[in-house]
Amino acid sequence: MAGKRNDRVLIFDTTLRDGEQSPGISLNPAEKLEIAQQLARLGVDIIEAGFPIASPGDFAAVQGIARTVEGPVIAGLARTHVADIDAAYNAVKDAAKPRIHTFISTSDIHIVHQLQTTREDVLGQARAAVAHARNYVEDVEFSPMDATRSEVEFTAEVVAAAIEEGATTINIPDTVGYTMPAEFSAWLERLYVLVPALRDVVLSVHCHDDLGLAVANSFAGLLAGARQVECAINGIGERAGNASLEEIVMLLYTRSADVGMSTAINTRELARTSRLVSRLTGYVVQPNKAVVGRNAFAHESGIHQDGVLKERTTYEIMDATSVGLEANSIVLGKHSGRHALRQALEDLGFEISGAALNTAFKRFKEIADRKKTVSAMDLEALVTDELREEIAAYTLESYAVTASMAAPPQATVAVRLPNGELGRGEFSGDGPVDSVFHAINAATGFDAALREFRVGAVTEGQDALGEVSVVVESRGEAASGQGVATDIIEAAARAYLRALSTLRRRAELASSAPASAESKPGAAELVSTP
Ligand code: KIV
Ligand code: ZN
Repeated sequence: MAGKRNDRVLIFDTTLRDGEQSPGISLNPAEKLEIAQQLARLGVDIIEAGFPIASPGDFAAVQGIARTVEGPVIAGLARTHVADIDAAYNAVKDAAKPRIHTFISTSDIHIVHQLQTTREDVLGQARAAVAHARNYVEDVEFSPMDATRSEVEFTAEVVAAAIEEGATTINIPDTVGYTMPAEFSAWLERLYVLVPALRDVVLSVHCHDDLGLAVANSFAGLLAGARQVECAINGIGERAGNASLEEIVMLLYTRSADVGMSTAINTRELARTSRLVSRLTGYVVQPNKAVVGRNAFAHESGIHQDGVLKERTTYEIMDATSVGLEANSIVLGKHSGRHALRQALEDLGFEISGAALNTAFKRFKEIADRKKTVSAMDLEALVTDELREEIAAYTLESYAVTASMAAPPQATVAVRLPNGELGRGEFSGDGPVDSVFHAINAATGFDAALREFRVGAVTEGQDALGEVSVVVESRGEAASGQGVATDIIEAAARAYLRALSTLRRRAELASSAPASAESKPGAAELVSTP
């Protein structure tokens, strides 16, 4: 075990960058901003808001976050190319605390096969990139990508050059999730020996979960001296994902007396942040997921239940309240008034007044009429849904479906279009949901196809609010959307319309992109980046 010093560990959240690179996830700028606001409430130190050169949408999202979110450092990712660093700077420059994070691979596998260059060139690119970034901002992070499959001596040379040029954080990525805890800490200890100046900057670790070791490897990195961990909510990210933020944080919190390290995270916001990310990305959290899974604090066996009833600590090493899981207590019933709703929303961290409160109240009443009790989780889902509705270009005015075993279902919909007019569509398809989606296509003029469809429930019980996530594709572009309602077809229609709204917003952004777009990486190149 490490010493007993109370060392502060910086939490670098990459949910919006590496996490957003998970297959099928496609968040729009407003959704990214909503997550970033919640990350700030959670108390993360650094938000990696995106990869600004990747697309006009990424750029706009990072810029919006940099201009709006207060508290954390806002970082933008950049390869070592000048255009990447310029884009990252332009996107983060309005943040109170901007950071440029630049990276290049140091493993021979990547240098030979992917970059098709030489070690010497990589060294030169790393040096030039950090120097260029330092002309813009004081806070520059450098990552030697695929470090754990790189020769430590060469990585040390590159890291030393980055520090000489002014990098303030050196991040060591286990890009392909290959290393093991003891091997990783030994590798880092050797790096400290080879690069004495590493002690003058922050050492960071960034681990992927391909072998299920991301959290264990990150922890090994901390024990070896790292004081920044890169992680993502619910562990989302490329392939098997990144180290899970909630697991790392609760490990340091629960074992603080032994490891002597702490974070600035408000752990009571963990469950809520997890739900928000799950809802907006459409990535469902597995029930037995550590810390935030539905069953993380549930006891099934009689012996365990008996123990916990007598004394909670017999079978619990953490308290559900410490991660905010008690937030599902019942708060309101159908007789609750506007004041009670407002208070409950404030307790949940939503400051809502005026027209937004009126709309939230109207929807609350509709739900309270159908459900006996409305829990905090219901309210959270409802308000998040309403926030999405406010920014959607297409909204559902009404729908009707007739279905029976004797005849194919028949759906009609009315959709409010971006120009304020009402679009109407009808369709007879394979099932009620399929019919509604095709009717929406007819009403909006989209030729979209459904790629993924998931249904869940916000809480338990027969009267639970239904939650639908869809991935929709049109002309080779995919977008996700989520909807919440007591009626599952209505939730599905809302989700579908939000995905179409994202497709429209993206098309608008692309058509208004500056001519310099040619200098941006091509699709093939982007796929192979971080
Ligand atoms: O996994 C990786 O190597 C990355 C870098 C860009 C830090 O995501
Ligand atoms: Zn990564």
